[in-house]
Amino acid sequence: MRIEDAKILVALPDLGVDRLEDASLSEHTSLGIGGTTDLLLIKRHASIPQLVRMLDAAGYAFKFLGGGSNVLIRDGELPWVMLHLVKPDPEVRLEGNFAYVDAAADLGRTVTFCAKNNLGGMEGLIGVPGTVGGALRMNAGAYGIQIGTYVREVELYRAETRSLVTLRGAEIRFEYRHTSFAHDDIMLAVKLELPSKPFKEILDGIRICNEKRRSSQPLNQKSAGCIFKNPPGVSAGRMLDELGLKSFHVGDARVSDRHANFFVNAGNATAAQMLSLIDTVRERVRNSYGITLEEEVIIWK
Ligand code: EPU
Repeated sequence: MRIEDAKILVALPDLGVDRLEDASLSEHTSLGIGGTTDLLLIKRHASIPQLVRMLDAAGYAFKFLGGGSNVLIRDGELPWVMLHLVKPDPEVRLEGNFAYVDAAADLGRTVTFCAKNNLGGMEGLIGVPGTVGGALRMNAGAYGIQIGTYVREVELYRAETRSLVTLRGAEIRFEYRHTSFAHDDIMLAVKLELPSKPFKEILDGIRICNEKRRSSQPLNQKSAGCIFKNPPGVSAGRMLDELGLKSFHVGDARVSDRHANFFVNAGNATAAQMLSLIDTVRERVRNSYGITLEEEVIIWK
């Protein structure tokens, strides 16, 4: 979708918003899939309420893109405009055991930066791709650690009241790959409280997690991490593997031969191919195990 409203185009620079015209979202997602639209790069959180008011008034639909590492976006010209936060400098500020982190910050770099300052706890998250905001929204986790454990405060844009809001950690529910944030909340910043740990000890933990990840996940291929959530007490990846689905494909959308819950773009996969693969695999699991798998990846059709 192209923004043609003159009032908005004139206002964008004053709001601290850059516009990338007709951007291909395949270049902004880890799957390398996604159609085209105007991408609005927001440099000031405080501008969001006014920007949204203007888009609403002119009838432009919009969605918010974080790190693009857990999303499957449809093909073709998209019927919405995409909003995206620009990383500030610095992305993280430390005060004792508290880390104040911008939602646009890279999760891995944040974990490393905190580690170098002897703040640990998040070792398992080191190889999880994406931004801190994306990790927060879905309560990303790995190797027994989830980000929600360390959250003390979150600043967000609340679409319902069209305002910037600060929530205390206790007001937010963090569950397995799920949080109580509204679907249209936009994460802006977070205050984490991290345990003190010597850098060397944190590094050892990071190395162990990295090693486990490298040996079991297709890290050098385009993917969105695990496609399905694990049903209680079961591994979706193991079920798909047991069904012999590794390497099963629809066009270039392929079940990884390394970890069956990773679906990779093995060339020029389209969203349509990936969606077809997801549906087919889900059907196979339903028929064999009587379990309906729920997607972990966010799908924008
Ligand atoms: N397994 C297989 N074949 C496969 C994949 C897995 O037999 O193709 C077996 C493994 O051998 C292991 C068991 O299934 O015995 C569990 O596998 P794994 O340790 O890889 O864990 P997972 O449940 O498949 C979860 C998270 C990952 C996270 C890892 C490590 C979900 C959906 N996935 O995977 O998170 O990295 O644990 O903590 O919760 C993600 O969320 O995108 C993600 C990759």
